[in-house]
Amino acid sequence: MSSAALPAPLRTERLILRTWQPGDREPFAEINADPVVMEHFPAPLTRAESDRFADRIEDLWRVDGWGLWAVQIAEDQSFAGFVGLNRAEFAAPFTPAIEVGWRLAQQHWGQGYATEAGRAALGYGFQELDLLEIVSFTSTVNTRSQRVMAKLGMQRDPGDDFDHPGIAPGDRLRRHVLYRLTRPDWASCRQGEAGAWGASLARR
Ligand SMILES: CC(C)(COP(=O)(O)OP(=O)(O)OC[C@H]1O[C@@H](n2cnc3c(N)ncnc32)[C@H](O)[C@@H]1OP(=O)(O)O)[C@@H](O)C(=O)NCCC(=O)NCCS
Repeated sequence: MSSAALPAPLRTERLILRTWQPGDREPFAEINADPVVMEHFPAPLTRAESDRFADRIEDLWRVDGWGLWAVQIAEDQSFAGFVGLNRAEFAAPFTPAIEVGWRLAQQHWGQGYATEAGRAALGYGFQELDLLEIVSFTSTVNTRSQRVMAKLGMQRDPGDDFDHPGIAPGDRLRRHVLYRLTRPDWASCRQGEAGAWGASLARR
């Protein structure tokens, strides 16, 4: 897919979800170097690791035409991190699957941005990509991220908890929770919250 074919941004009430720009690299590296942001990951990323991650994100956009959106705060145009959809292909009982995920700069936490953008990402996955289910997962200790999953109407079955194969046995981050949202559950959740799910998402 050529860059001309990259999709238009999504607009929510306060955010712009768009494909990546060269100017995102520096603030993205700052986010990935922040030990608080990276508390629930094996380690903060170096600038080179952060750039490689951004390369992978951009490659996947070119191949699939969807992925992890760069999140921009509409009011001041600043880059806040990413929220979006990603393929989960590691060995686990629920894979292959499409996950919704997020990582935002610390100064933007606690304002509902991850939930707002996550809602738009789920809407895109179910409406535009016709997915039947979207999952989300994180280590058991990442309660903040789990709260976002719950606020999005995703459901956890403790029987789905799993050990992430990419994390060593005994590591505090190895045990993960899995949240799921099926298309029918998303549709009924959306009906019940028409304002939040519907009106706030418009293509720019
Ligand atoms: C997870 C993350 C994206 C959340 O972003 P955010 O914009 O602050 O999320 P929201 O404001 O939409 O919602 C956060 C919710 O968690 C709650 N919360 C905050 N700290 C919490 C904690 N320690 N435990 C449980 N819930 C917590 C907030 O109160 C809020 O819920 P509420 O609206 O019911 O009050 C952000 O913290 C982040 O980038 N973390 C680091 C990266 C990361 O862990 N990504 C997920 C990997 S799976």
